[in-house]
Amino acid sequence: MYRSHTCGELRESHINNTVTLSGWVQKSRDKGFMIWIDLRDRYGITQLIFDEERTASDLMEKAKMLGREFVIQVTGTVIERTSKNPKISTGNIEILVSDLEILNESLTPPFTIEDETDGGDDIRMKYRYLDIRRNPVRENLIFRHKVTMAVRNYLSEKEFVEVETPYLIKSTPEGARDFVVPSRMNEGQFYALPQSPQTFKQLLMVGGMDKYFQIVKCFRDEDLRADRQPEFTQIDCEMAFVEQEDILNTFEGLTRHIIKEIKGVEIGEFPRMTYDEAMQRYGNDKPDIRFGMEFGELNEVAKHKEFGVFNNAELVVGIAVPGGNSYSRKEIDKLIDWIKRPQVGALGMVYVRCNEDGSYKSSVDKFYDQDDLAKWAEVTGAKAGDLICVLSGDTLKVRTQLSALRMELAERLGLRKTDEFAPLWVVDFPLLEWDEDTERYHAMHHPFTSPKPEQIELLKTKPGEVKANAYDIVLNGNEIGGGSIRIHDKETQAMMFDYLGFTPEEAKAQFGFLMDAFQYGAPPHGGIAFGLDRLVSILGGQETIRDFIAFPKNNSGRDVMIDAPAPIDDTQLKELCLKLDLKA
Ligand code: AMO
Repeated sequence: MYRSHTCGELRESHINNTVTLSGWVQKSRDKGFMIWIDLRDRYGITQLIFDEERTASDLMEKAKMLGREFVIQVTGTVIERTSKNPKISTGNIEILVSDLEILNESLTPPFTIEDETDGGDDIRMKYRYLDIRRNPVRENLIFRHKVTMAVRNYLSEKEFVEVETPYLIKSTPEGARDFVVPSRMNEGQFYALPQSPQTFKQLLMVGGMDKYFQIVKCFRDEDLRADRQPEFTQIDCEMAFVEQEDILNTFEGLTRHIIKEIKGVEIGEFPRMTYDEAMQRYGNDKPDIRFGMEFGELNEVAKHKEFGVFNNAELVVGIAVPGGNSYSRKEIDKLIDWIKRPQVGALGMVYVRCNEDGSYKSSVDKFYDQDDLAKWAEVTGAKAGDLICVLSGDTLKVRTQLSALRMELAERLGLRKTDEFAPLWVVDFPLLEWDEDTERYHAMHHPFTSPKPEQIELLKTKPGEVKANAYDIVLNGNEIGGGSIRIHDKETQAMMFDYLGFTPEEAKAQFGFLMDAFQYGAPPHGGIAFGLDRLVSILGGQETIRDFIAFPKNNSGRDVMIDAPAPIDDTQLKELCLKLDLKA
């Protein structure tokens, strides 16, 4: 038996018991006549003590040999500690060791295995197994486990069935590039790893499964960011015989349950906002509604004077920054530099100081008088002491830029509180999105999404204006999930493929199986997928999903621990009928 208790378990009630513990040496303090060792396992830390008076000399010698991260087993008596440590749960006791066995030695770890480590990101990723020994990383993984358990229990209770779908499939267009896997047995042919199980879950509905879910890995070869990994996990769900309202209610229930179960926070009905409204009020289809600073559109009150920049702009729009009048000229200049960075790309910013005495001072006083500026303040909701920041230009661009500024300022002002949860639904997304590069429409969600039935006719004349039965669930300014009601008849699906520029032959070659299935009594259906990594990290108060993934990839998509991706040898290449010509 390696242990009778864990390192987080012993209390004063165990005093005088003989116990056996196993774990890692976190720290050793050697005073010569007395040695203390912090023994660590997943459950906590227990202090071991060896002293000249009570410990045999050969045991003392052995204890002196222990290095950091050695794996040991000890047997001893639980005794009361003279100097107690209220910071840890076992802080009132220690173990007077009578037997010590070294189970495995360890090299000195390349960074300290402490909550605040001296190891940088790269080194921690290379030795991720050591990083996982640290409390914050381990706790994040346990936290993730709790969220998935809450999800499984809730959905299972509601009669959803978890069904696994294949990983070696044919490519499904979801907007990103596929990762492909060559097939040895089918020369020159490739599987694709799923970007999501979208078509399979729809086929499960045709198969009569009625309510499906799966906590499933998805693979997308896209540029990486803090909230994106090339392989990530979805809580993927689908239901038959449902309308949008049924889906929103079901998954609002799930989200509410998770937040209650995991954070102990009760959330009422989620607000709903159309895509158009979200873009107008927040310049963003995933608005953070934990704070105000809503957009005020100023076209009507800013385009009547001689200021060419505004007069030539499609949209003039501003936000009120609470307390922003206290910013110095230098600070405002810095803010202007910030929005001019290529990542944001604004050409400039007009600002208005709202003075405490009710007067205004703006960077465009030459063109606008106090009455004009008072109107701007009214539209943006600015109060005395605030600063109004105004951008102008092309509608979509300027909204994106002002949204970036809004988020940045909110972060600086401490308005993005990690213990506050503000979910919402964004509904009525456009069905199609114009792509400048290819000069054609793409499906905004995916090609299986149903247009609003009453707008199907509009597809012929104004395709860009057609809305879809598609929705996103947003939490604290992050898209944590998205879904739609699906097309379930062959004709509409064929028409959609046609709008998306597929020839009937291409559509048949890629999606023949789905269109065939639709001819055998496909029920009306719809679903949603949550990004589990995002959901977990936001609930955990962070926005970097890497911290909640056991073995994540770095920003170049590499696993630096196992050193992947890596070349394969010539025999393997030959077997797969692959020839590499890197010079070509
Ligand atoms: P969508 O593409 O919106 O929908 O994906 C669903 C959710 O998955 C998360 N997500 C990601 N998380 C981490 N890294 C990534 N690279 C990444 N990409 C997406 C997001 C997103 O909201 N088949 C549809 C769902 C459906 O229609 O039912 C789909 O995959 O949180």
